[in-house]
Amino acid sequence: MNKERKLIIAGNWKMNKTVAESLDLVNGLKRELASVKEVDIVVCPPFTALGEVSKAILDSNIRLGAQNMSEHNFGAYTGEVAAGMLKEFSVRYVILGHSERRQYQGEPDALIARKATAAHAASLRPIICVGETLAQREAGEMEKIVGTQLRGSLVGLSEEQMIETIVAYEPVWAIGTGRNATAAQAQEVHAFIRKELATAYGESVARRVRIQYGGSVKPSNARELMNQPDVDGALVGGAALEVRSFSEIIKNSI
Ligand code: 13P
Repeated sequence: MNKERKLIIAGNWKMNKTVAESLDLVNGLKRELASVKEVDIVVCPPFTALGEVSKAILDSNIRLGAQNMSEHNFGAYTGEVAAGMLKEFSVRYVILGHSERRQYQGEPDALIARKATAAHAASLRPIICVGETLAQREAGEMEKIVGTQLRGSLVGLSEEQMIETIVAYEPVWAIGTGRNATAAQAQEVHAFIRKELATAYGESVARRVRIQYGGSVKPSNARELMNQPDVDGALVGGAALEVRSFSEIIKNSI
């Protein structure tokens, strides 16, 4: 597949996998995906497995991501993990503002923006998630919701930082439901996101930002989704938990 931007496909393991299970998965991915050069491959295990997974992928084409981080660098923030601590495990990416954190932890856009700034300060690349619920889509509010989340979550980022930021469009109604956005629906929203980025940062920055699609991505729909001009990768949940499905998603996207 000839894409303007290099595809980035990340597995968000969410709150799944012991250390032993994580190693099984990542060792299997290493075997299956060793020859892949066309796609940036990222795995985002739970914090507890970052250390061991980091060692296991040292000599591979798989990169490490975390699922969240604190906006603070250190201090009295019980239960939080700082960017610098992630760097100790050679983490390169961090998912911020996933809809599950927006929903269950009540994370607002302004907090996500501060986390994104903290991530860049530590040379971590944020993967910033945005997406509307079904009720919002049906009420005709998709652009309003996605636009507001996007602008609010990017506050304070420079052009250089924006280029190193990944945006993930994850419609809430497609997450874990088996009901993915159609390729046309995904392309429409991705084009809208890129237009918003162009308004805020200019055309040349917007053209370089990679926008992932997330929500029930599987081997059978990956190719069509990745074929869309403004879809530059995927953020995969359930199908990233097994060697076979995650590696097929990647191979089917090339
Ligand atoms: P599913 O792929 O399980 O729908 O999850 C998507 C997601 O939330 C990835 O961050």
